[in-house]
Amino acid sequence: MPFFSSKPTSFLGIDIGSSSIKMIELGNRNGQAVLKNYAFAEKTSKIESSRTEDIISRSAEIIKKMYKEAGFTSRETVAALHNFDVFTSVINLPETDLADLESIIRVEAHKFVPIPLEDVVLDWKVVGAIGDKHKKAKDKKKAVEKPAPDKKESTKVKSDETKNAKLAGLAPEDLLPKDERGLEVLLTAAPRKLVKKYVEIFKAAELNLLSLETESFSYIRALLPKNDNSPVMVLNVGAVASDIIIVEKQIPVIIRTVDGGGFSITEAIAHNLGISIERAEQFKRDVGIYAPDGTDSNHVIRQLVESAFVPVVNEISYSLELYKTRNQNVEKILLTGGSAYLLHLSDFLKSTFKIPVYIGDPWHRITYAPEMQKVLQEIGPMFTVAVGLALKQIVE
Ligand SMILES: Nc1ncnc2c1ncn2[C@@H]1O[C@H](COP(=O)(O)OP(=O)(O)OP(=O)(O)O)[C@@H](O)[C@H]1O
Ligand SMILES: [Mg+2]
Repeated sequence: MPFFSSKPTSFLGIDIGSSSIKMIELGNRNGQAVLKNYAFAEKTSKIESSRTEDIISRSAEIIKKMYKEAGFTSRETVAALHNFDVFTSVINLPETDLADLESIIRVEAHKFVPIPLEDVVLDWKVVGAIGDKHKKAKDKKKAVEKPAPDKKESTKVKSDETKNAKLAGLAPEDLLPKDERGLEVLLTAAPRKLVKKYVEIFKAAELNLLSLETESFSYIRALLPKNDNSPVMVLNVGAVASDIIIVEKQIPVIIRTVDGGGFSITEAIAHNLGISIERAEQFKRDVGIYAPDGTDSNHVIRQLVESAFVPVVNEISYSLELYKTRNQNVEKILLTGGSAYLLHLSDFLKSTFKIPVYIGDPWHRITYAPEMQKVLQEIGPMFTVAVGLALKQIVE
């Protein structure tokens, strides 16, 4: 056993969102995550663009400033790619020799990734393997970056099927029946150009980027207890986008992203009432989306909030229907993202979908000083991705 180990003992999770950057440092105390520091920096009250390249372009300098001012100590960083920038799918493969698996996966990948495979970083993980032959395969994970031989256009991606849906979710025919003799493989493909951009940003911020993962995995790690295998929907309502992730046995089986979040609600109020973004934001926070007691005051604003939220509601309905084709029902919805605190959003979703809705708690695996409980509860939904990212280095 070495007398000295230089293995890092604390990690940064950095979430570059469209409205703000969230940064958290977690320490590893014998496998238990301990909160060491956190900070967030709002960018501007106006969101100029929802393109990731624009969102992250000024990030290095903001991150550098946050790091210094808040007194973070670790430089070991995990960051996230937005769900809408990554293509994710669970594919079923027939029983096959492990030696052939990689080439089969490459051939399969071109069917669902709608951009040339030489332009993406492809990653895969066997998530379901039944039968002795594949027992060893379960934990095998490989990153492959080679182009597939065939660059045929996607036949399975249905990303434009539902208006506003940006991300390729699974269409009913993609949810293949479970084959007990087969393999389930979780495939992700991230645009190479974007990955390069993130690498550059963290280098410029003088941080050591250990890993870049898709947000969905951070939500799962931060919000779901390790032994929770029930079908759950994680609903992230951010500033410009909302993510719908149906998780089964800790695996994201349906991932969809829709344009629409807190900022589109604020914009709708500002536009319709002819008021500033700042005032509209305040109205939104004060009035909310739903009146559980049926009160009629502020009806006009509430109506505007609800209308701006319609694309998200439609996408939730679509995802629930899609999941039902697998003969499964979602048991609960876990709400997260800054807009999770939109007044009465949980009641509204409960009443619309008749499914229990809870605000997810990203701190449930973290040790922190008891006096911090109140403030952490308030900021929790905004910090879910950052917490999940930093946790990755401690619990996996
Ligand atoms: N108390 C509140 N009530 C209503 N909305 C709120 C409240 N607090 C924050 N929000 C909204 O949350 C949004 C920011 O959420 P979040 O930090 O999750 O977004 P982001 O990660 O920056 O954006 P995105 O995920 O879309 O890139 C803003 O639109 C803000 O108006
Ligand atoms: Mg976000």
